[in-house]
Amino acid sequence: MNVIVTGASRGIGYQLVKLFASDAANKIVAISRNAERLEVLKSECENENVKSIPFDLSDVYRLKSDLTSLVQEAVPSIDILINNAGQLVNKTFDQISSEDFDLCYNVNIKSPFFTIQSLMPVFSEKAHIVNISSMGGVQGSVKFPGLSAYSSSKGAIAILTECLAEEYKETNWRFNCLAIGAAQTEMLEEAFPGYKAPLSAEEMAKFIAKFATEDSSYFNGKILAVASTTP
Ligand SMILES: NC(=O)c1ccc[n+]([C@@H]2O[C@H](COP(=O)([O-])OP(=O)(O)OC[C@H]3O[C@@H](n4cnc5c(N)ncnc54)[C@H](OP(=O)(O)O)[C@@H]3O)[C@@H](O)[C@H]2O)c1
Repeated sequence: MNVIVTGASRGIGYQLVKLFASDAANKIVAISRNAERLEVLKSECENENVKSIPFDLSDVYRLKSDLTSLVQEAVPSIDILINNAGQLVNKTFDQISSEDFDLCYNVNIKSPFFTIQSLMPVFSEKAHIVNISSMGGVQGSVKFPGLSAYSSSKGAIAILTECLAEEYKETNWRFNCLAIGAAQTEMLEEAFPGYKAPLSAEEMAKFIAKFATEDSSYFNGKILAVASTTP
């Protein structure tokens, strides 16, 4: 399978790439800004079909003009796209600047929106698009002070998933959203300092990879909560 993972330089995305790379039949494209971390990731994968694209997904203008051709240099078509890159803002509502808001929304909703739009021409017939949201982005879940920009942007990607499943229901593409709970990463530590998550990044990545490949045949347009604790 040809798999694209955004936000691959650390945390859950890093582990996702390693997991997909453990199958020699897979070709993986790892995207995030930190080129050095992507090189380390490639060196840890015993699969020469791991390609990296250092790219700032918040630069939506460049995303629309360059991303498709960069991806196509690595893989001819896409079977799985995991929109995993994320940007946290943890500030009280009154302290969130317009710049904070734009950064968060650019990475968490505008970039997956235009990544999907740009890469759609190279989706394979049965492509599966998995958008990574958060429990904080689910209607009715427990909410936390400081996360108004972040959680509302994660709500937006959940609803986008439902919209795309409806708009493309005549195709064999599937669009699903995993609203995940706590996994031990740098982002979690920034959001909830000192909190110990029940899952490692690798354990969460295992769940996401299995869902993306095997366990989702009967899901399309679904927002699935993946959490056993709060947060
Ligand atoms: N960990 C949790 O408990 C938790 C809970 C709920 C939801 N999530 C969601 O799960 C996903 C992964 O989270 P994580 O905890 O693994 O986060 P993380 O450790 O902070 O990693 C975030 C990744 O996103 C990439 N990224 C950020 N801004 C980017 C940009 N402008 N362009 C390209 N890549 C960018 C980062 O790479 P560069 O810095 O190299 O660009 C990094 O690889 C996120 O969508 C997050 O919101 C996580």
